[in-house]
Amino acid sequence: MDWKIIHIDETDSTNRWLQNHQLIANSHEPIAIWADYQTAGKGCGTNSWESERGKNLTFSLLIHPTEVPASRQFVISEWVSVALCETLEHYIYNKVEIKWPNDIYVGDRKIAGILIENTLKGNHIKDSIIGIGLNVNQQEFLSDAPNPVSLCQLLGHEVDRMELLTRFLQRKPLVSPAETDGFSYRNRIYRKGQLATYQDKDGRFKATIQDVEPDGHLLMMDEAGQERRYAFKEVTYIL
Ligand code: BTN
Repeated sequence: MDWKIIHIDETDSTNRWLQNHQLIANSHEPIAIWADYQTAGKGCGTNSWESERGKNLTFSLLIHPTEVPASRQFVISEWVSVALCETLEHYIYNKVEIKWPNDIYVGDRKIAGILIENTLKGNHIKDSIIGIGLNVNQQEFLSDAPNPVSLCQLLGHEVDRMELLTRFLQRKPLVSPAETDGFSYRNRIYRKGQLATYQDKDGRFKATIQDVEPDGHLLMMDEAGQERRYAFKEVTYIL
């Protein structure tokens, strides 16, 4: 894909920036907007996203995957998560994993978060805004996020952010759902096959992650041998 890359000093949120710039949003070329600082970076749900000024990558992609049916929108999470993992593995030897649905983990620590906001037209996706917060050179995290880590903390030296962004944008483009290799995503699922503790609306339980369905539901088997199936936000990991 040939990305139009826009770099700005500061904005509230790069996802919001794309939503507010309709002229740009109506363009058909894929856009990547990268800000040195976000005054109100959005995390998933009601969370905010902490990122020290000038230290990390906080950027959003705008793509128009019109061939993706709404029922298969999870393919965008698969695509971007795998592309991030593969990009990070250029820098570090550790295996980079995906904490379902799309947090990027090294060991038990979160190095990147993804916030996808899709606009549907009929049964298809018209626009997809993919916001990515990647901890690159930040050394100290102040928010109450439980387990952040940066590339610099793992490597012991700083990394050039533009080079990292370019490497990421050169990963293979999102292809149609039928052609997307779901295996690469499923092969990287954090805690897959390991008994661990989770929490749902009825309380804590122990279970093993078995798979992620094409529509993004998480399949688990609990200690009692009962299969459990969860949509995003219906279950949390106890870390
Ligand atoms: C998460 O909670 O894990 C998702 C975090 C997503 C943060 C990124 S930073 C760039 C883009 N702009 C935002 O306001 N949020 C996303």
